[in-house]
Amino acid sequence: MRRPTVVGNWKMNASFAQTTELLAGLSEGWSGVHKAEVAVCPPYPYLAKTAELLEQSNIVFGSQDVSQHESGAYTGQVSADMLLDLGCKYAIVGHSERREYQGESSELVAEKFEAAINKGLTPILCVGETQAERESELTFDVVGQQLRAVIDRCGLEGVAKGVVAYEPVWAIGTGLSATPEMAQDVHAYIREVLGPEGEQTAILYGGSVKPDTAAALFAQQDIDGALVGGASLKVEDFLAICRAAD
Ligand code: 13P
Repeated sequence: MRRPTVVGNWKMNASFAQTTELLAGLSEGWSGVHKAEVAVCPPYPYLAKTAELLEQSNIVFGSQDVSQHESGAYTGQVSADMLLDLGCKYAIVGHSERREYQGESSELVAEKFEAAINKGLTPILCVGETQAERESELTFDVVGQQLRAVIDRCGLEGVAKGVVAYEPVWAIGTGLSATPEMAQDVHAYIREVLGPEGEQTAILYGGSVKPDTAAALFAQQDIDGALVGGASLKVEDFLAICRAAD
């Protein structure tokens, strides 16, 4: 049985004061025993405070990126070892915002994925098509190419050590979620590409997940949870999504 997983990607949002408040609200609201794993990915500068505030809770945390390098003269980059030192469990890699604004290629994303698994940090690999690619019926080609870059570098066994997040670019921050059926089609395809090695790999859906859309998405066979942007910045909304997964 794959463990349901809900991850909040805060992106470049929330002040230090808001971070403290959010974390306090979440750890209080998610106390007790749960089936689902809940994680948050705040901005780098808040990770140390996050570690401190989540110490007594059963919420884990991660970063929004990781360097492909182990150490060295790479100004501004943060290594897997540094993130592990802080207590991170996860690192998001290949988010479409980084692919687009930082020009990250699938090959670079694969290097980051490898850097994470080599150290025991769990990468959350984001894949997904743009609106134009979907309209041109290229969804499976694009998602397949993004996955294959990582498979070529790390093998199917390597990929199975991470988490995959299907995030259609047109659904991110737009309020337009894929329907549960649309998402399930792509998740089933991802599961097939991952092969038998990936049977236990969590495949999360991301893109405008809200409390009122979460349950129907999670009811799909290959949707194991969510990567949540906007709604993860509101304690009640995020907790409602976590409860739907639980
Ligand atoms: P939204 O939930 O705000 O659409 O963001 C999704 C996302 O990009 C999570 O990584």
